[in-house]
Amino acid sequence: MSATVLVVDDEELARNNVCEILRDAGYEALEAGDLDQAHSFIESGSADIILLDVMLPDGSGLTLLDRIALENPSPPVILITAFGEVDTAVDAMKKGAQDFLQKPLDLDRLLQAVEKAREVVMLRRELDMLRGSSSDSVEMVVGETPSMRKIVKEAKRAASAQASVLITGETGTGKNLLAQAIRKLGPRSEKAFIPINCPALPDTMIESELFGHEAGAFTGAQKRKPGLIEIADGGVLFLDEISSTKPEMQAKLLTVIEERTFRRVGGVTEISVDIQILAASNRNLIAMMKDGTFREDLYYRLKVLDLHLPPLRERKEDIPALIGSFIRQINLRTGNAVSNITPRAIETLKKHDWPGNIRELNHVIERAMLMCDDETIDLGHLPPDFQILAN
Ligand SMILES: Nc1ncnc2c1ncn2[C@@H]1O[C@H](COP(=O)(O)OP(=O)(O)OP(=O)(O)O)[C@@H](O)[C@H]1O
Ligand SMILES: [Mg+2]
Repeated sequence: MSATVLVVDDEELARNNVCEILRDAGYEALEAGDLDQAHSFIESGSADIILLDVMLPDGSGLTLLDRIALENPSPPVILITAFGEVDTAVDAMKKGAQDFLQKPLDLDRLLQAVEKAREVVMLRRELDMLRGSSSDSVEMVVGETPSMRKIVKEAKRAASAQASVLITGETGTGKNLLAQAIRKLGPRSEKAFIPINCPALPDTMIESELFGHEAGAFTGAQKRKPGLIEIADGGVLFLDEISSTKPEMQAKLLTVIEERTFRRVGGVTEISVDIQILAASNRNLIAMMKDGTFREDLYYRLKVLDLHLPPLRERKEDIPALIGSFIRQINLRTGNAVSNITPRAIETLKKHDWPGNIRELNHVIERAMLMCDDETIDLGHLPPDFQILAN
């Protein structure tokens, strides 16, 4: 993917030079000589990355940072400061600049910084696509039983407070769905949602996946790579099945949660992030704490709010509404036209214990819709074990 870099600098010669270097490296380059021109490019959304000089004829480049932050997505900014202006650089980083370079410009550093910004832009684009596919999560949290109503109410509260939430519940009870809903309901709804499936990350990779690494941090690390925590900055980090993390990783996560800072593998600088942390577990963390396999301090940090999703067998009243919602979704996806289910089929479904919870129910309905060649699902469309339950 090519990216467009807007170069904002009033010195024409320097600006042309930088643009040429960028074009040689495969980027598109746009030029602006003052804040006003830069504004119009930003407003039109044509810049993916902004290289911003601080001293401009119509004001300080820093004033542009607030304006850029309003853009969605907001392009990463690399600030160019005069030699020795460390305070300005610190200010700029606080206001959301991604990086800063000092004059005279070192070309390698320049290209490195732009390349890193390009990675951020690419990731955001990918995430935008992913986000589009799960935009309906709030509407999809079906449940009218008191326990579910309470959960939805608390989820809304946690969302607006951007609090850490620990979601517990058996497999298939909707932990992932609820995590997405919390993000959707809060001020970070348009920001990144980064799910981390903890058991899927091999021990050897987990650290560099989460924290990123510097070039040369270990064999095979040729380039600096941002980790998932860094990518989640501004958004929501979802630690799925947190119980599977090893003690060493639990300690590192605790630091991130307490300090909101971390270091890349092989890195020395502390990087601050602004993330909301959600975690899920289908194992009993309290029991794990007692036998010493889960850190108590981490547990309490994660469960600022604690949402426990009840198993489906404890809220069978929700089965009809869930079935309705699945039928609609599956019709939409497959172009089927199933519109009904018989009362005796529903009664039979209510007799089952649902160890796989909502996921299992979803599969049973999907299968029934495959078997059904008219508009109504009946007993005969359910799997064989349900025929036995019917009697
Ligand atoms: N309240 C709900 N309303 C509608 N659909 C739901 C609800 N809860 C869960 N589902 C659906 O059930 C399936 C399983 O949900 P999800 O993946 O969120 O469960 P989970 O608790 O994360 O499971 P696991 O522990 O196995 O990871 C998904 O297809 C999800 O959309
Ligand atoms: Mg899950």
